[in-house]
Amino acid sequence: MIKTLKITEFGDFQTPLKLAEQVSQLVFKSYPYVKSIVEPTCGTGNFIRASIKAKGNLESAYGWEINPEYIKILKDISYNNKKLKINITQKNFFLIDWSLLPKDLKESVLFIGNPPWVTNSELGRIGSKNLPQKTNFQSHAGLEAITGKSNFDISEWMLIKIAEYISGKKAAMSFLVKTSVARKVFLHICKNRLSIKNLNIYNIEAKKHFDVNVDACLFCAEGSSEHSKEYVCPIYDSLSTRYPIKTMGYANGKLVADINIYNMLKDIDSKSEIPWRSGIKHDCSKVMEFKLKGDKLLNGFQEEADIPEDYLYPMYKSSHIANDKLKEPVKYMLVTQRKIGVETDSIRILSPKTWAYLQSHKKKLASRKSSIYKNAPRFSVFGVGDYSFQPWKIVISGMYKNIKFKLIGPFKEKPVVLDDTCYMMSFESEEKAEFVYKLLSSKIAGDFIDSIVFKDSKRPVTVALLNRINLKRLAYHLELTEEYNFFFENDKQKQLILTR
Ligand SMILES: C[S@@+](CC[C@H](N)C(=O)[O-])C[C@H]1O[C@@H](n2cnc3c(N)ncnc32)[C@H](O)[C@@H]1O
Repeated sequence: MIKTLKITEFGDFQTPLKLAEQVSQLVFKSYPYVKSIVEPTCGTGNFIRASIKAKGNLESAYGWEINPEYIKILKDISYNNKKLKINITQKNFFLIDWSLLPKDLKESVLFIGNPPWVTNSELGRIGSKNLPQKTNFQSHAGLEAITGKSNFDISEWMLIKIAEYISGKKAAMSFLVKTSVARKVFLHICKNRLSIKNLNIYNIEAKKHFDVNVDACLFCAEGSSEHSKEYVCPIYDSLSTRYPIKTMGYANGKLVADINIYNMLKDIDSKSEIPWRSGIKHDCSKVMEFKLKGDKLLNGFQEEADIPEDYLYPMYKSSHIANDKLKEPVKYMLVTQRKIGVETDSIRILSPKTWAYLQSHKKKLASRKSSIYKNAPRFSVFGVGDYSFQPWKIVISGMYKNIKFKLIGPFKEKPVVLDDTCYMMSFESEEKAEFVYKLLSSKIAGDFIDSIVFKDSKRPVTVALLNRINLKRLAYHLELTEEYNFFFENDKQKQLILTR
């Protein structure tokens, strides 16, 4: 019986034989030249069994595994092929000297299996050392990468090692991994221009096979004797689908979710003329946010706050703007500054009741953890500027996966502000905001965003991503260049006249 701690430490999810067989049948058709297989981190060895079954004339099968209990189980593996050499060894993957692999693992070899499902920070939490010893992995200094400043799946490190090994060789790799890991390995291959071809991803149902709620897939790649000119990776909906649902690609140093659509719209991938920004950050919602109950303002502690309207603004948070139908704001935010870093002491004179309220919660505000508050004026907020107070905004939630823009205007003659889970672009003119909203909510904009966004990632929408949408090019695709010029080029001319 393998203990639970060990299961976590070794990312131990043994592949059901049926799934291993399905994978083997698929991959051996693609790599007919394979004579040897290695199942690194082989556990109870179901990929060895499945490979032997799928490839009758296999010459050698290697299994490496750290856990001695599994090695014992695997010693009894049975097979009918007398010519087949089986080699099962207890090995720590991180200590393998890749220059010393035996001759039959130099060419015509397939690395197959299911590497551990655990991240370095999970290992850090349980004090495990099941990690690479020295690395400049992901361009971090060795210690930083190991000690968890960057969080990575150890399977990512393992697959990158294998990808680097098969690069330029007649060799292949096929592994069950989290989809996020497969994407990172693909990105590493592209960025480092490895000699690798025929990259494919087949989605699998991780819940059904491993009882885990995570997007997972079979990641396949083959070494190539030639340098690859372009890297693409078709994505199939399942192991048995014949046609890809989309093709992932690589452009300008970044992954692209759908390279075919992207190539048609890539001119849009430039720079947004109006910057996208995050909403206001205050890290103290119980003090700085209020709900209106009747005519009473209640803060997050359900205390009634007797403060005037002057520093209060109607607000939306992600859950409000992700709703299909945007309702009237029901919350208010206390915004103590109009620009980052300006002093807050004048509130004492300008709004004595607001000052008294802030004073009564000064301990909570002073104990905000983020270092940005350290040398800032007391009661500071961040992500604030003239743009926060412009009346018209195009907004989107950074937390939800439904990528839909909303256009919002002032509420009861005050600009609506957003919390820092939302992104926005702001405008003085309603007409201009409406025009840009028309551009951004078009099908072409949706197609472009879908082509660059991985919807299954934790936070698919980011400011960096939104800032890649060039409005002029979008207007061009929508045959709205004239209107674009009216709103944008005229602005430039006005500016020129003013600066003369
Ligand atoms: C997700 S399980 C998969 C096992 C097997 N390949 C399969 O598909 O059923 C991961 C395996 O990796 C092994 N493992 C974890 N860390 C390892 C390491 N550093 N070196 C070798 N094996 C390791 C675990 O003991 C476990 O058996």
